[in-house]
Amino acid sequence: MAAEPVNVKEYQELARNALPKMYYDFYAGGAEDQYTLTENMEAFSRITICPRILIDVSNMDLSTNVLGYNISAPIMIAPTAMHKLAHPEGEIATAKAAAACKTIMVLSFSATCTIEEVASCCNAVRFFQLYVYKRRNITALLVQRAERSGYKAIVLTVDTPRLGRREADIKNKMISPQLPNLDGLMSTEVSSDEGSNLEAFAFKTLDSSLCWKDIDWLRSITKLPILVKGILTREDAIKAVEVGVDGIIVSNHGARQLDYVPATISSLEEVVCAVGGQVPVLFDGGVRRGADIFKALALGAQAVLIGRPVIFGLAAMGEYGVKHIIEILKGELELTMALAGCSSVKDITRNHIKTEHERFL
Ligand code: FNR
Repeated sequence: MAAEPVNVKEYQELARNALPKMYYDFYAGGAEDQYTLTENMEAFSRITICPRILIDVSNMDLSTNVLGYNISAPIMIAPTAMHKLAHPEGEIATAKAAAACKTIMVLSFSATCTIEEVASCCNAVRFFQLYVYKRRNITALLVQRAERSGYKAIVLTVDTPRLGRREADIKNKMISPQLPNLDGLMSTEVSSDEGSNLEAFAFKTLDSSLCWKDIDWLRSITKLPILVKGILTREDAIKAVEVGVDGIIVSNHGARQLDYVPATISSLEEVVCAVGGQVPVLFDGGVRRGADIFKALALGAQAVLIGRPVIFGLAAMGEYGVKHIIEILKGELELTMALAGCSSVKDITRNHIKTEHERFL
């Protein structure tokens, strides 16, 4: 038997071997030149860690709190579409892994299991990610279903007025499978031989007129806290706080939307400073090592979300793979913290890292 994978990269290779090319490319790829895709990961490597020594790290505590929910480590599951293309158990396997790891799963609007199936399969704390469709009644209905099924927050994705141009999907003629949450509401199948069916479906459905005033609309249809996912600038962070969101996720959609935006880790501090502690700031994009999580926390993130690593674990080994991916990252974070002289996440400060610019001052 082959040895167990020991890091996210090795899981990525297993996923590449396990999946048909069309699906692997869909999961792994980014937009256009994929400049931001590479940057999301490489920008982490330009940040160094400044360890402090002779600090008692014999008792480690990785736990933290997000919107009032205690989680075992600052690692959450990002919303990613269509888990059944990676594994037959789909989002149910992912949710069970989230529960086992005592973390929060954000279920994608484009899930391949229903809101209710995921809610009833385990007791993980779940948030629901939202796209706003031109047919707003469909979006509103899904929000109500999530609320009724015990989801604890709405994560409004704000970087997708249209789908980014993902060239691998265009070449592979990526399919757009029926999404069970939309059964009886609309068909997700687009019968076109040209390019990515997913892109065609998104173009047909996504409401590109969505703007800041619609946060009020969303608040009028739900009592749940609202987080906005996809903030990259100081200006938008200030605006988001002004309109009263309950949290911000610094994200560039895993580099799948606008290419040539900065790596998220390069945008994080700007957003954290603008927010000034008024609401929690979460982070995603390019996290592949515990050290990356340490750097994001040092720059002010409350927790990180992981997207592709979860898919790689799921594709390679189902629920076990997702659990193992989270455990690996948790183990790496714990070791990084111990070696850097931090016994709890609260001990991680801005002084524990140096950006490239600071190193040359
Ligand atoms: C995503 N992402 C995403 N985001 C969202 O708000 N709704 C969604 O349905 C999806 N779907 C999706 C599918 C796939 C295959 C990927 C890779 C990503 C973006 C996701 O939530 C997150 O922002 C990134 O995945 C984070 O980057 P990493 O961890 O993948 O590098």
